[in-house]
Amino acid sequence: MTPELESAVREICAAHDRDPLRLMDILRAVQQRCGSISSPIIARIAAELRIPRVRVESTATFYAFFTAQPTGRIVIRVCNDVIDELQGGQRVLAAFEQELGIRVGETTPDGLITLTETACIGMCDQAPAALVNDVVVTRLSTDRAREIVQALRANPDPKALVTRLGDGNNGHALVGAMVENNLRYAEPAYVFSPLARGVALSKAVAMSPAEIIRAVKVSRLRGRGGAGFPTGMKWEFARAAPGDRKFIVCNADEGEPGTFKDRVILTECPDRVFAGMTIAGYAIGAAEGVLYLRAEYAYLRAFLEDVLARRRAEGLLGQSVAGKAGFNFDIRIQMGAGAYICGEETALLNSCEGLRGDPRNRPPFPAQRGYLGCPTVVNNVETLCKVVKIIQDGPAAFAEHGSAGSSGTKLLSISGDCKRPGVYEVAFGVTLRHVLELCGAEDAAAVQVGGPSGQLVPRSQYDRKICYDDLATGGSVMVFGPQRDLVHVVRRYLDFFAEESCGYCTPCRVGTRLLIERLAHIQAGRGSPDDLAYLEELGQTIKLTSRCGLGQTAANPVLTSLKNFPEVWAGRVRARSNGHQPGFDLSTAVGAAELIVGRRSAHAHAAS
Ligand SMILES: Cc1cc2nc3c(=O)[nH]c(=O)nc-3n(C[C@H](O)[C@H](O)[C@H](O)COP(=O)(O)O)c2cc1C
Ligand code: SF4
Ligand code: FES
Repeated sequence: MTPELESAVREICAAHDRDPLRLMDILRAVQQRCGSISSPIIARIAAELRIPRVRVESTATFYAFFTAQPTGRIVIRVCNDVIDELQGGQRVLAAFEQELGIRVGETTPDGLITLTETACIGMCDQAPAALVNDVVVTRLSTDRAREIVQALRANPDPKALVTRLGDGNNGHALVGAMVENNLRYAEPAYVFSPLARGVALSKAVAMSPAEIIRAVKVSRLRGRGGAGFPTGMKWEFARAAPGDRKFIVCNADEGEPGTFKDRVILTECPDRVFAGMTIAGYAIGAAEGVLYLRAEYAYLRAFLEDVLARRRAEGLLGQSVAGKAGFNFDIRIQMGAGAYICGEETALLNSCEGLRGDPRNRPPFPAQRGYLGCPTVVNNVETLCKVVKIIQDGPAAFAEHGSAGSSGTKLLSISGDCKRPGVYEVAFGVTLRHVLELCGAEDAAAVQVGGPSGQLVPRSQYDRKICYDDLATGGSVMVFGPQRDLVHVVRRYLDFFAEESCGYCTPCRVGTRLLIERLAHIQAGRGSPDDLAYLEELGQTIKLTSRCGLGQTAANPVLTSLKNFPEVWAGRVRARSNGHQPGFDLSTAVGAAELIVGRRSAHAHAAS
């Protein structure tokens, strides 16, 4: 390591108080400044923080945005998820390769640009999309890819790629993004409705914490992050848990492919998110809040920090919040570094502590022992926004909307083969058919509701309702037209889960790979009906035996498509009337023996 590099690492560690809890921030800063986190750098950081080297190494090697090998000054990350593929993402990637003269994973010889692929970056409504360092480029075409490379060669500042600004706060000086909100529909509007600043918070601090929790319970609000756990109950557990130090964590990791509603909320209603965190803090007796922001949304960070600073100046954060003596609460932003599993709440807490994003065993649940072992409430961005309106308008108004088990509204992120992709706010209980009409997807042949971990729904089930009792969803709705190959879609989702598995448990780590192997076999035209039975059985095993939600849902693309699209799978496998299965190629198997004995095997060739 050069002396310059060593002093840069030292400086970064010192700027973060040599605090091991800030390892994520330290590694992010080192990656940015030094272009990689090499073995000598890991040793230096460990020495500076006085922690075992393995502790630094395990975090540094876990996250996609950290690299051991040096990258170029600019890293282009092209989304390779299904939705981008539908819009020509593979051609865009090939154009980048061609113009750069390198393959994916390589760096240009001048060390300027590295090209890589990435999972969903939350821009599915304007795909194909890519990140150029922190700058988001959307609606890519092959021409645009070539222009981007030429522009970067002429001026290696990714910010200069922003030639037009998106709508709403995307045009704010601190965001400066060409991203579009694509906010299409909000009726009834609970998140995207005008709200007077500070009113809900003032109202909240005039109530007792118990009254707030009661109001949230009366509203029957359930978490909007996917699992649908009753918010009031979660808060009650955390309030009742023993401990002087408690935390509110807002989960803005939004990594489920096809989900981008939190991005739009953070862009347009950050005050509402922070107000929700503050109300939650007051309700459970917390003084500290953490917003965990996925690395892909780093372009929003300066803007969000500015909103926090303004709230501090206005007395809405800090000491005696909203004039309430004794209620002190502040919020910090914790950046992620590219790991879908960190959306799982216990993995997220580990990440906040500077560790790998491995999920924890439960119990204890975060409400009992969460961040730093203290009672912690983890809530989704949308959930916290809902709280603000519930306190302002009263819980009854909220509970009026929705269905019996699912009150209020839900934000949907709609993408794929539809005329109007974007964010929609609808009352729970709305039919999928209605949603498809709203977004202009009447000819949809299949809809993936709830992201890859959700369900693949066929036409015959479009009258099903979007709510926790029927089609539960964290918000992702991906539409596939009749021309799409659903087996390919399933395969791509499995690729995603296999890539994102934290690797802790064998059924998830190995099982997803085995599913992929068998799928590849079917895709190659060698599948037999037995393979479908194998997929079903293995899928159920992975579901039953995995430790966290990722593994428990990773086989869903296979399982729900086998159930809902049997004809698609039946069309891809073949049984042989002679009892031989196409999965086993007898001719190939005996090929080597034929060469040795110098004659053809009559049985092998009769069977084929
Ligand atoms: C693999 C995985 C990824 C997840 N990703 C997210 C996410 O990005 N955002 C989120 O709010 N919840 C996510 N969750 C759910 C969280 O674990 C947790 O239930 C949620 O943040 C709780 O907030 P809520 O009660 O407001 O929904 C994920 C769960 C799993 C298993
Ligand atoms: S199920 Fe998968 S992601 Fe979850 S802990 Fe096990 S290996 Fe990790
Ligand atoms: S940005 Fe590519 S699928 Fe979401």
